[in-house]
Amino acid sequence: MSATILDGKALARQIRQRLREQVAQWVQRHGVRPCLAAVLVGEDPASHVYVGKKQQACAQVGLESRLIELPQHTSPSQLLECLDELNADPGVHGILVQLPLPEQLNPDEVFERMDPRKDVDGFHPENVGRLVQGRPRFVPCTPGGIRALLDHYGISTQGRHVVVLGRSPIVGKPLANLLLARGPQGDATVTVCHSRSAHLTQLAKQADILVAAVGRPRFVGPDMVRPGAVVIDVGITRTQQGLVGDVDFPAVAQVASYITPVPGGVGPLTVAMLLQNTFQAAQALVQDGNS
Ligand code: GUN
Repeated sequence: MSATILDGKALARQIRQRLREQVAQWVQRHGVRPCLAAVLVGEDPASHVYVGKKQQACAQVGLESRLIELPQHTSPSQLLECLDELNADPGVHGILVQLPLPEQLNPDEVFERMDPRKDVDGFHPENVGRLVQGRPRFVPCTPGGIRALLDHYGISTQGRHVVVLGRSPIVGKPLANLLLARGPQGDATVTVCHSRSAHLTQLAKQADILVAAVGRPRFVGPDMVRPGAVVIDVGITRTQQGLVGDVDFPAVAQVASYITPVPGGVGPLTVAMLLQNTFQAAQALVQDGNS
């Protein structure tokens, strides 16, 4: 294997440690404990695991968390009412509605109802708009985690060709916007590919930095990777052989210069960014007298 492993787990630990100290100081000064409310609708087992991890991470850094569990058949008006209550609650600083939602619930409508100042995922249209304008309030957690990983390992995006596989509103679209922004944290040339893209392999092969976020296990093989490219794997699928990413790790690691493992790559950083965003939300709300 030639590629250097981008160790997201270790970096996430460092970020949580730093945050823990900052939160402790801030709580002492303001007498307010930042609080994340997680809304979990339905029975999806993976969502239960992810939300459990997020709550555990909150506790580790000294953030309060609340879990609101709603049944699978929750109606749109019930979920919107729940959001109204959380929006109005001065003890709640961040709100997370775990995706995917049951099919009767439209995520766009749900995120639009959220107070954008508490939208720690950055999915409210106002926050999406701010990101597109290059002045984000909350950077969505997975793109923020990828950015943190690249920064930590000194991998610049300036002038480089980033190819993103996947156009989801959670990863592909916000990451493309983040890396397009002017300045040292961006300045990339970005290509976003998706399930209808022609010549996918040729496009992927042009990447200096290839990000796979398609949710198809081992979709990216060595034929799609330029020798020396940086490969970021966002995918995570539970298979009979355990958790598998979108990248055929052993084969691609022979070709890439840097590569993220699954698990232990992007996932832990996504959680760390959620904690940072929650702390940031609490700071802004308290400063504006809304908490
Ligand atoms: N489901 C998978 N990833 C995410 C995420 O980043 N935020 C939310 N709310 N749900 C998700």
